[in-house]
Amino acid sequence: MQIDKSKKVVFNIDGQIYSTYKYSSGMNTDVYHCPDNDVMIKQYKNKSFLDEIKWCHILSCAPAVVGIDTERNIVIQEFVGEPLTYKNVPDNYKLQIANIKQELIDAGCNGEDIEFCVKDGKIKIVDLGACRDGDKVERRLYDALCDLEKSIIQHSEGKEIT
Ligand SMILES: Nc1ncnc2c1ncn2[C@@H]1O[C@H](COP(=O)(O)OP(=O)(O)OP(=O)(O)O)[C@@H](O)[C@H]1O
Ligand SMILES: [Mg+2]
Repeated sequence: MQIDKSKKVVFNIDGQIYSTYKYSSGMNTDVYHCPDNDVMIKQYKNKSFLDEIKWCHILSCAPAVVGIDTERNIVIQEFVGEPLTYKNVPDNYKLQIANIKQELIDAGCNGEDIEFCVKDGKIKIVDLGACRDGDKVERRLYDALCDLEKSIIQHSEGKEIT
């Protein structure tokens, strides 16, 4: 991911200084990367950060929570890498996604809106603020796997032509 280093933002959270760069801005959150501490600072516009924290604590396939600021709706998480694409997909991605699915099923988490990131060959899920207790996991992960496989196939077809 290309980070705009001109958009530097400094946070003071519980006396700890985090020098960050704006990573993304979504409907509900602003996300900042702090490379020095290898963390993401996610600032929510609402209290759904509490759901995100809940699932991060339950699931080992989600980022570890390393800090919280309840006044400002901030969660500080370990940085779990770049978005998963055909370019960085690990060879054993099917096994890893099957394991994530099993963990979500065991935890009773529906996996709504989750996204996949990868770091050092390890896939984790992010964006758990919309996850609820439920049973829609199968469909969500099946779709994600199909999308990924489609893009891997398209890419390898492109390579053969050139
Ligand atoms: N802990 C993390 N480690 C690495 N990358 C992360 C992490 N959390 C978020 N990201 C990256 O930041 C992007 C935006 O974060 P996220 O999806 O959680 O919020 P959002 O999409 O802005 O929120 P919304 O779903 O409300 O639009 C993700 O797509 C992912 O690439
Ligand atoms: Mg998102």
